[in-house]
Amino acid sequence: MTGSEPQPAQASAAIAFVGAGNMAAAIIGGLIQNGYCASNIIASDPNQAQLEQLHEKFAITTEADNLKAVAKADVVLLAVKPQVLGSVAKALAPALTHQPLIISIAAGIPIASLAAWLGDSQALVRCMPNTPALVGVGASGLYANAYTNPAQRALAEQILAAVGVVAWLDEESQIDAVTAVSGSGPAYFFYVMEAMIEEGVRQGLSADLARQLTIETALGAATLAKASDEAPAELRRRVTSPGGTTEQAIRRFDEAGLPAIFAEAMVACAERSVTLAEELGNTDQ
Ligand SMILES: NC(=O)c1ccc[n+]([C@@H]2O[C@H](COP(=O)([O-])OP(=O)(O)OC[C@H]3O[C@@H](n4cnc5c(N)ncnc54)[C@H](OP(=O)(O)O)[C@@H]3O)[C@@H](O)[C@H]2O)c1
Repeated sequence: MTGSEPQPAQASAAIAFVGAGNMAAAIIGGLIQNGYCASNIIASDPNQAQLEQLHEKFAITTEADNLKAVAKADVVLLAVKPQVLGSVAKALAPALTHQPLIISIAAGIPIASLAAWLGDSQALVRCMPNTPALVGVGASGLYANAYTNPAQRALAEQILAAVGVVAWLDEESQIDAVTAVSGSGPAYFFYVMEAMIEEGVRQGLSADLARQLTIETALGAATLAKASDEAPAELRRRVTSPGGTTEQAIRRFDEAGLPAIFAEAMVACAERSVTLAEELGNTDQ
């Protein structure tokens, strides 16, 4: 994994964001924060208010027309919803004859579909980010096709590292596992938080206090796990004294088969990632 200390991306590369919503805004914000030159960033979107907001906040160039936005770009970052990516990409194809690097952050859209829509020999990077990217602590899995050269791979990595850690995948199919771990993973932790807050309240804490203690505990555990050389299993053992309080809780989790429940949930998630790719990536639509 890389990206915990993002490096400034190649300052000279012109980046066009197609789709200027939440994820695009987060990545643009990360790039600017890392010293990327605002004049090298352009964003296009049908939503004029969104474009104005981005221009005011980051002083980037904005453009209502996707084709004009990508015309001189070295990198085109596709940040529209997966459901509209097919039509957006097909319309963009004629404006990509200068063969920029294309990065897609759309969940569930395979490289083969992107190539069918955008042109067979385009350099393509498929990325699976997650929602903590919105606050700069995301985790992204990246897969590049054979047309992507080393400089383009480095550039893709630097762009995504602006919003968190980045890991390259050897096989595109690993995107499904990344989806099961980090893509959907934030929701698993939110779900655990919900249950902890609810039970904290039931045991007599105010809702505010239960929420605060739960969130700080999640953050503290993640920070400790990240800073430590020990595996999470060892960190857990260290706070589980024989005959103590934590042991009682962990015993209940084990009796309920929690690891198997997680495995089952993550298998279901990865399987849905496969079928979603078949549905969303349908190039006949
Ligand atoms: N949010 C996340 O944490 C997350 C995590 C993993 C992957 N992703 C992926 O990131 C992508 C963007 O997600 P998001 O949360 O940023 O969505 P979003 O906030 O809805 O942003 C998408 C933007 O694209 C615009 N758009 C729609 N049609 C367009 C067109 N024809 N040309 C140009 N722009 C167009 C939308 O405008 P309107 O609002 O006017 O429709 C909207 O501003 C999605 O593909 C998603 O799968 C997001």
